[in-house]
Amino acid sequence: MIMDKLHAIITGIGGYVPDYILTNDELSRMVDTSDEWIMTRIGVKERRILNEEGLGASYMARKAVKQLLEKTDTDPLSVDAVICSTSTSDYHFPSTASIVLGKCGMTNAHAFDLSAACSGWLFAMDQATCMIESGRYKKIVVVGADKMSSILDYTDRQTCPIFGDGAAAALVEPTTEDLGWQDSYLRTDGQGLPFLCLKAGGSATPPSYFTLEHRMHYLHQEGRTVFKFAVTNMSDAVALVAERNGLNKDNIDWVIPHQANIRIIEAVAKRLELPMEKVMLNIQKYGNTSSGTLPLALWDYEKQLKKGDNLIFTAFGAGFTWGAAYMKWGYDGK
Ligand code: UT7
Repeated sequence: MIMDKLHAIITGIGGYVPDYILTNDELSRMVDTSDEWIMTRIGVKERRILNEEGLGASYMARKAVKQLLEKTDTDPLSVDAVICSTSTSDYHFPSTASIVLGKCGMTNAHAFDLSAACSGWLFAMDQATCMIESGRYKKIVVVGADKMSSILDYTDRQTCPIFGDGAAAALVEPTTEDLGWQDSYLRTDGQGLPFLCLKAGGSATPPSYFTLEHRMHYLHQEGRTVFKFAVTNMSDAVALVAERNGLNKDNIDWVIPHQANIRIIEAVAKRLELPMEKVMLNIQKYGNTSSGTLPLALWDYEKQLKKGDNLIFTAFGAGFTWGAAYMKWGYDGK
């Protein structure tokens, strides 16, 4: 008996961003910067901050997942697996995914975190696709959640304007229709550590008075170097995935790029000769939410999507990690 090939499609999206809006004007009172500099060099107007004490990435993730389960009318007990991509997990252990699973009652599943920095959700989607294509899993929740404000130094003007907090989740299910995840190109080069990292708090350099005194628990980034790697690698990845799938400016409906810097996004669009109207953007209102950027973009643009639309995702993050993926969207916007 010949079985139809199983494809992995997204059947719904849920999202959550905290209520508190940190504007460029407020930031300009905290560090020596301006709305004009941030808008021209990065493209962020405002970002959301989870500022209630005691709440971590799992709080936003569970809000997003709850919305997803309600929207898709999914019984939490029917979910087979929960993957959470995050760089700002509530605890080193247990996983943030396990907390989300518990809070949302998805107790017939197993759950784990996936760490690939800002490429995390893309890598997690690829992982979920393999699980769905194997035929062993029917419903997988893939959530990207980051509370970047928990690792930002709000006295460092080079990093604090860039990032924000947020989470979004996708439900991934099998279909035999020719839809869903078609192709991906994902890479990691191991060169990124000196340029983008959290220096202390892990097993190499556990917390100490020294690490606190030297502000080593904040995100460290050498922006210019990261910028160059991001532009080159994201542009090359989207071009490669487009080329090998016969995609071009005429048949690509949407590009969903990681939202790190508007100038990087424009460079990616230019490489594909795509007008910016076909590029999903949320950087202006959320900043870089790390694992949250791609699913939050889908959450914002869901209504505009149509069944069969050709989507290209691309991401770049610490490590370095990066890649691109081609997906045929599974349903008309709702
Ligand atoms: O998501 C993970 C991947 N991350 C990324 O993709 C981020 C990649 N990097 C970037 O997006 C950019 O490099 C930044 C936005 C981080 C910085 O932009 P840049 O155009 O590379 O600026 P720069 O670091 O080269 O700094 C230019 C000038 C410097 O002054 P001098 O040395 O020319 O006098 C900085 O001190 O801008 C100054 N500067 C600022 N001025 C006002 C840096 N930050 C600020 C600021 N406000 N917030």
